[in-house]
Amino acid sequence: MPKRSKSSERWLQRQRKDYFVRKAQDGGQVSRAHYKLLQIDQRFQILSARKKVLELGAAPGGWTQYLESKITRGFLIAVDPLPITRGGRCRVIEGYAGDPDVNERISELLQGQKLDLVLSDMAPNISGVRAVDQARAMDLADVAMQACEDWLDNGGDLAIKAFQGEGLDAWVADLKRQFSLVNMMKPKASRPESREVFVVARGFQGVNTALT
Ligand SMILES: C[S@@+](CC[C@H](N)C(=O)[O-])C[C@H]1O[C@@H](n2cnc3c(N)ncnc32)[C@H](O)[C@@H]1O
Repeated sequence: MPKRSKSSERWLQRQRKDYFVRKAQDGGQVSRAHYKLLQIDQRFQILSARKKVLELGAAPGGWTQYLESKITRGFLIAVDPLPITRGGRCRVIEGYAGDPDVNERISELLQGQKLDLVLSDMAPNISGVRAVDQARAMDLADVAMQACEDWLDNGGDLAIKAFQGEGLDAWVADLKRQFSLVNMMKPKASRPESREVFVVARGFQGVNTALT
């Protein structure tokens, strides 16, 4: 067997010890991320049977699995360049959110309908250079915001993974101009040492023309 690098050995050890990884494996969940969405939903009740939802950054499918169990009468569109494990209740678009082709596919699927909820668990490929990774993460946050401007109904919600660092405060300040209520949350299932936080914005008020 090839020798593992120190970092992959550390990752494996952490996975073995991690409570939510074990819980996901024991409970047949696709990934520990499942519990992050569950905890966000328990706190903010963003999901219900009839919701029309766009999920950005869906692979491998932990959130998708949870969403499919909740959305029984609405619909779910899941986007990721990587393969998504899912059941029959979701339309999958393989590609990068923000790409014109992907935008076109989303618009085709929506056929003029508006969304109740935009979710993003997108994470950039990590370069290891903190400033570069933070800039990439903020670009993804902008992609999710653009999705709200394009397809979210007035009164709709956004829940998005963001990373604490340069640009986040200003981005959240912009968000507060477009939604009635904005909260930050660190679910218990999120590793304490990770800079990730979740921003939950309720009550979309439409595109803020003062910003455009
Ligand atoms: C943390 S994982 C998502 C985990 C997923 N929510 C789950 O529960 O299994 C982050 C994902 O973001 C995806 N991603 C990164 N940039 C993206 C983009 N522009 N559009 C869509 N997905 C993207 C990556 O391919 C990766 O699968």
